[in-house]
Amino acid sequence: MITVVQVSDVHFGTSERNEDRANRLFARLAALHRPVDALVITGDIADHGAVAEYEKARAALATQPFPVFTCPGNHDDRAAYSRILLGSEQPEGPINQVQSAAGAVFALCDSTVPGEPGGFLADETLEWLDRTLTDAPAGAPVFVCFHHPPVRTYVPFLDGMMQTGGERLAAVLGRHDNVVAILAGHVHTPAATMFAGLPLVIAPSVISTVLLPWEGDEIMDNEAPAALAFHILDDERRLTTHFRVIL
Ligand SMILES: [Fe+2]
Ligand SMILES: [Fe+2]
Repeated sequence: MITVVQVSDVHFGTSERNEDRANRLFARLAALHRPVDALVITGDIADHGAVAEYEKARAALATQPFPVFTCPGNHDDRAAYSRILLGSEQPEGPINQVQSAAGAVFALCDSTVPGEPGGFLADETLEWLDRTLTDAPAGAPVFVCFHHPPVRTYVPFLDGMMQTGGERLAAVLGRHDNVVAILAGHVHTPAATMFAGLPLVIAPSVISTVLLPWEGDEIMDNEAPAALAFHILDDERRLTTHFRVIL
């Protein structure tokens, strides 16, 4: 059994109130009765891609007693994210990383397009993902993680900036049988659907929750509490997700 906590859309730098939310959430995780196997953050870690925002994020993530894996979102800046959070100068192009914990592989894909709110997996990212899935240890389950979901979520504001070109991703996933779930963010709501026959779980945001068309005319509810997702992958490779709000 593998346990993963997923946090998304932290947007460090927006306000003291939001930073306080993030710090409370990470303090809660640091104080878990038993640590989980890994923390995955699915993008929009900084709000403006600023160095000071990543320094705050780095300090918060250093308190976590388990491996922390991240991928960038549309609010992130590849150069600052790479230098401060990953500790490496990143050449031009997408920042894709493969990590592992507790026998599982995490393929962390960069779905961002610099300067654009929407997402797209570049050809080089899909080729990298194909190789990563081929090279994963035999029997190891793989979580594919990125910021932008590759399907509509029926939130008009977000459907205008989803990940396009999903049929190319579906073709890659269809060539492998080791992917157990897709983890995404960006939509600022806890949501679950399917993609290419796999569970696709969207983690809630730390700072705000998007409103569905029948909930109100505003785009975001800024009063809704911060939240996160706990994923359990059991020995039958079935994914169960629990959502928690952090008051
Ligand atoms: Fe976001
Ligand atoms: Fe986003």
